[in-house]
Amino acid sequence: MTQDISISELSEDEATTELARLSGLITSANSAYHTKDAPEISDAEFDALKRRNLEIEEKFPHLKRADSPTEQIGASVAEGFGKIQHAVRMLSLGNAFDDQDVTDFDTRIRKYLGLDATHPLSYTAEPKIDGLSLSLRYERGRLVHAATRGDGTTGENVTENARTISDIPQLVENAPDVMEIRGEVYMSHADFQALNSAQEKKGDKTFSNPRNAAAGSLRQLDPEITKSRPLKFFAYAWGELSAPLSGTQFGAIGRMAQMGFSTNPLTQLCDGPTELIKHYRSIETARSDLGYDIDGVVYKVDDLNLQTRLGFRSTTPRWAIAHKFPAELAWTILESIDIQVGRTGALSPVARLKPVTVGGVVVSNATLHNEDYIAGLDSNGAPIREGRDIRVGDHVQVYRAGDVIPKIADVDLKKRPENSVAFDFPTRCPECGSPAIRDEGDAVRRCTGGLICPAQTVEKLKHFVSRGAFDIDGMGAKQVEQFHHDGWIKEPADIFTLRDRFGQGLQQLKNREGWGEKSATALFDAIDDRRKIDLDRVIFGLGIRHVGAAASTLLANHYGSWSALTSAIEPASAREGAAWDDLLSIDGVGTVMATSLVAAFENPLEAASIDRLVSHLTIVDAVLPDTSDSPVAGKTVVFTGSLERMTRAEAKSRAESLGAKVAGSVSKKTDLLVAGPGAGSKAKKAAELGIDTIDEDGWFDLIDGL
Ligand code: IVH
Repeated sequence: MTQDISISELSEDEATTELARLSGLITSANSAYHTKDAPEISDAEFDALKRRNLEIEEKFPHLKRADSPTEQIGASVAEGFGKIQHAVRMLSLGNAFDDQDVTDFDTRIRKYLGLDATHPLSYTAEPKIDGLSLSLRYERGRLVHAATRGDGTTGENVTENARTISDIPQLVENAPDVMEIRGEVYMSHADFQALNSAQEKKGDKTFSNPRNAAAGSLRQLDPEITKSRPLKFFAYAWGELSAPLSGTQFGAIGRMAQMGFSTNPLTQLCDGPTELIKHYRSIETARSDLGYDIDGVVYKVDDLNLQTRLGFRSTTPRWAIAHKFPAELAWTILESIDIQVGRTGALSPVARLKPVTVGGVVVSNATLHNEDYIAGLDSNGAPIREGRDIRVGDHVQVYRAGDVIPKIADVDLKKRPENSVAFDFPTRCPECGSPAIRDEGDAVRRCTGGLICPAQTVEKLKHFVSRGAFDIDGMGAKQVEQFHHDGWIKEPADIFTLRDRFGQGLQQLKNREGWGEKSATALFDAIDDRRKIDLDRVIFGLGIRHVGAAASTLLANHYGSWSALTSAIEPASAREGAAWDDLLSIDGVGTVMATSLVAAFENPLEAASIDRLVSHLTIVDAVLPDTSDSPVAGKTVVFTGSLERMTRAEAKSRAESLGAKVAGSVSKKTDLLVAGPGAGSKAKKAAELGIDTIDEDGWFDLIDGL
């Protein structure tokens, strides 16, 4: 994996490719987390991707992409909610990972303010609640609207949902005329577990952690559903105010508490880094008994005048920082290793553990990644854990970083049983017996059984009904397994013929455990609701390897309709020529993804299965902006060098709204290069290829008046 190449060794070309790859991964992770409430990677992995991206950008500033993830907060607003423009932007926080980072934070602030080390400077330290932020606007004491953070500038209007949360007052006495209170919506561990059990019983999707459960519950189009979910709210910040709440952060929190908001009881005033770190340790000790997830401690300069003087960087305040907790660890015994077969045939080893509590949550399963990881090797064959392998019977260290799947970090060789043997990774699929092979350069061994493998079929079906794809209410993992086991569904198309086939069979369904007439009819209605469906969801639902949620949206926006997509894929399967080049011209689509996409449509069994599915659907075209007057509509534009009148993100979204495609690198397909000062290799290449090149002012002249 390129991830392992040290940044100092990256060539310019490798850095460009790596930035494109990271941008794709980060966008997809962001969309899974924020827009679909179904995270794909852990917070720690996400932080690592962002850090690597930033480091590469710092080394190669001229390669920074127009859509650099560094400039983005969260994700754009999901469809279905009204939009609310925040009167004051909702920002994120910089991170500190160790004590030194905290001391550096204090030193930076003193330097900025011109205060020497002896000058008193207090901070508040408050738990960083792991939920989702919400901004509540009160006018003359009355709650008028509530908005999620969205991209920081525009959030989703969730007012009616917020009104159902009992911690959020509808009326506030003695409040400034205009008052925006900000804080975190979260769900307790106990409520999360109860909700998931109930979801599972009903055949609804379960949530992977309390934060996603909170986000999924708040972002419901039907407020009645939000009302039935036990959400809580802590207030800790504010947006627009017609009069200040206090002169200090600590005072403002006290004032919010007086007005009837819940504020966190572990908030404390500290007089410098030593006290901050002391309070951090005490919160860390209390963490597993709090009953809700926190992922660090936030430090804020207490004096609000000083906060104003310190101000903001592009997405974070200078006056605050989040001191993150390290992953939570525990030791336990590895009882067995199971091999699970995924949707794309990947054989994934899962550790079955003697149950152990890690940070307040009981863990009995953890991922072991792949066979090399078990053997003590990284993806390049270099030793990890100093080469220690992992065996059944071993004492292993489990960690959980407030995230999706617990992992195994280490093994204690001193406690290894004498008769233990190295784990023998299967070379045949445990589900269908087909050979399981490892392609060169692939860390993963895969079952070659394709659609004859029942495990792959079931996983594909689970993906198909999942939240980011067809999102069929009443059909979760459990129901898919049951229906597949009973021979009712073998492929997605079968879901849409269930009602007809079970005309009489409804009786049969009714007699099954957990199904009544009402729930069966509700399921068939929910299936009917999805006969009309957006193009991007269809593409994503197919579960093609490497074609994730973000890529599906890119493909949908590029081709516009199902017929345009399929008629382009057939000629593209030559893997050369205009249709292939056109597919690769999509910013974010690389050869690996394109190859996987065309291969899926080339496979006669898969193609037939897709055709059967599509015959049941009305696929809604992607809505592209009206660009009839635009001189750049349909053109492929590349931005390079430093831009002075707009940020890269603005340039990209403006160009796209005018119907242009924005690419990350110059190729024969490029129609126009917009080059600012410092443009390097891209400008050179454009000149070689004879591509039109203009500067930033030229760009504004071109799009003048649009
Ligand atoms: S202050 C301008 N305080 O963490 C700074 N944020 O990573 C505004 N969060 O978006 C944020 N607990 O969702 C602040 N006590 C706390 C917090 C907190 C949780 C979240 C919040 C924010 C994110 C930043």
